[in-house]
Amino acid sequence: MRAGLRWATGITLVLVALGGVGVGAGVAAHEIGDPENGGRLFVENCAVCHGVDGKGRFGANLNDFPGIAIDAALVETIRNGIPGTRMPGWGQEAGGPLSENDIEDLTAYILVALGGTEPLAPLPTYQPEPVVAPPGIPGDAAAGSLVYQANCTVCHGAQGQGGIGGKLARSWPGNDPAAYVVGVVSDGIPGSTMPAWLQARGGPLTETEIADVGAYVLALRPAAGIAAPTPAPDGPLSRGLSLTLLALAGVLLAGGLLWYYRRA
Ligand code: HEC
Ligand code: HEC
Repeated sequence: MRAGLRWATGITLVLVALGGVGVGAGVAAHEIGDPENGGRLFVENCAVCHGVDGKGRFGANLNDFPGIAIDAALVETIRNGIPGTRMPGWGQEAGGPLSENDIEDLTAYILVALGGTEPLAPLPTYQPEPVVAPPGIPGDAAAGSLVYQANCTVCHGAQGQGGIGGKLARSWPGNDPAAYVVGVVSDGIPGSTMPAWLQARGGPLTETEIADVGAYVLALRPAAGIAAPTPAPDGPLSRGLSLTLLALAGVLLAGGLLWYYRRA
């Protein structure tokens, strides 16, 4: 009896200890995030302003800012952005595109990889897509598609369908839409996250690149037949299907067992 009690206590203690280790490891992994995935997200979403190496383009240098060791503050900044600056909020509650998991992975990447070292993820290489610009527009729309993908997709979507920035696949006001678009892109929109892209305004793009990207944006007009991609509705559907199959398998198994035991 006493030996049994001792055994039971021992086993309980071991189980509690194992549980503690499990919980501890879980919390640590949760806090650290996956820097590999974070590197990919960084190149896709942040490099446009902070540079692939985190050394800054429009955005702050992320290699050596003092508060960066405090990852709670870092998570908060990424989640909600910095109001009144070009730093957008990336969390879904702030209207951004990133999940909480993504934000943790990004935080991990910034803390682990951007300490003045080489970035983990290389800049993606883009293929120009065939685009037909409306006639009479200065600039090369095909070249502009590359400029667009490297700089604008992050906020306006791959098809100009909009996101953090407005929808660009639309018709433009005024009798000179090209001049309007080139002007907005060159100067940015003060008080919003839309940066000024022209080198003379502190941006990274030349006049030619802006003319090209302007031609591409005008080619995105809905008249050009580019529709916003419709999300494939496969997620919930296939989950429903697998649940049904699981239920069916359960019923068959129960039936089989019943039949077996009634025979025996
Ligand atoms: C449109 C440009 C832009 C994009 C895109 C952008 N940022 Fe920023 N970010 C900024 C600017 C500008 C600042 C500095 C704001 C200020 O004046 O304090 C900033 C600041 C920050 C800071 C705080 C730096 C400090 O010194 O306090 C962090 C962290 C940060 N960004 C992370 C990110 C991450 C992660 C992403 C991608 C998910 C991202 N940013 C995307 C423009 C951008
Ligand atoms: C960090 C996010 C961000 C990036 C990157 C960005 N934009 Fe924007 N852009 C915006 C936002 C936000 C607005 C809308 C501002 C407003 O109306 O308050 C905007 C507005 C515009 C407009 C004017 C739309 C209108 O309805 O008048 C054009 C044109 C435009 N962007 C083109 C571009 C091009 C071209 C690039 C790439 C070179 C680019 N944007 C990159 C955020 C962004």
